[in-house]
Amino acid sequence: MQPTNEFLIAPSLLSADFSRLAEEIRAVEVAGADWLHVDVMDGHFVPNLTIGAPVVKSLRRCTRKPLDVHLMIEKPERFLKDFIDAGSDIITIHVEAADDVAECLRTIRAAGRKAGITLRPATPIEKILPFLGEVDLILIMTVNPGFGGQTFMIEQVEKIAAIREELNRTQSKALIEVDGGINADTAARCRLADVLVAGHYVFSRDYRESITRLKAAKYD
Ligand code: DX5
Ligand code: ZN
Repeated sequence: MQPTNEFLIAPSLLSADFSRLAEEIRAVEVAGADWLHVDVMDGHFVPNLTIGAPVVKSLRRCTRKPLDVHLMIEKPERFLKDFIDAGSDIITIHVEAADDVAECLRTIRAAGRKAGITLRPATPIEKILPFLGEVDLILIMTVNPGFGGQTFMIEQVEKIAAIREELNRTQSKALIEVDGGINADTAARCRLADVLVAGHYVFSRDYRESITRLKAAKYD
């Protein structure tokens, strides 16, 4: 993927009205969303349950925007085929969750989809460095995964710089995405990233205004 000159914005549907997902998707698209971020939780890897592949399949019929699927599930290898078949464009796995991380990334890419890797805030970036050559996206978590609407963990920002340096050093075109507690202020701390996920900030106020402000934060 090409590094970006302005932030791409991926609203997290976790904060959308689940009874009207198609309308919510339409509304954020019109408001300038670039991707749609889908949080998949299994009640084991994180203490919350959300949605599975059948819902992703339904969302696929509602949009042509990239579906950016963040798997917060134990042993994601069990479900990769389901999420591929459901029409996910980008599938991100947690380095802590997979038995064989490299094999998962290969499976995703072999299906012609983009592969992402992520880590909990408590996990050092050294854990993901061995896989940077095999991913299209690195997702930096700035909250503990599990819930929307949490406070941005400022100390995680240094991981963005470290990954950017590593991507530059290896001339990698992988994108850096940040997820958790993003608003217009915290977005400005993430300038070295390419893609911002935002749930509460987008869906709790005017969609267009919030997305426009997030995009502009790259140059604030
Ligand atoms: C947290 C999820 C996030 C969450 C972000 O586990 O991965 O994508 O929806 O929500 P906000 O932007 O409200 O922190
Ligand atoms: Zn997420």
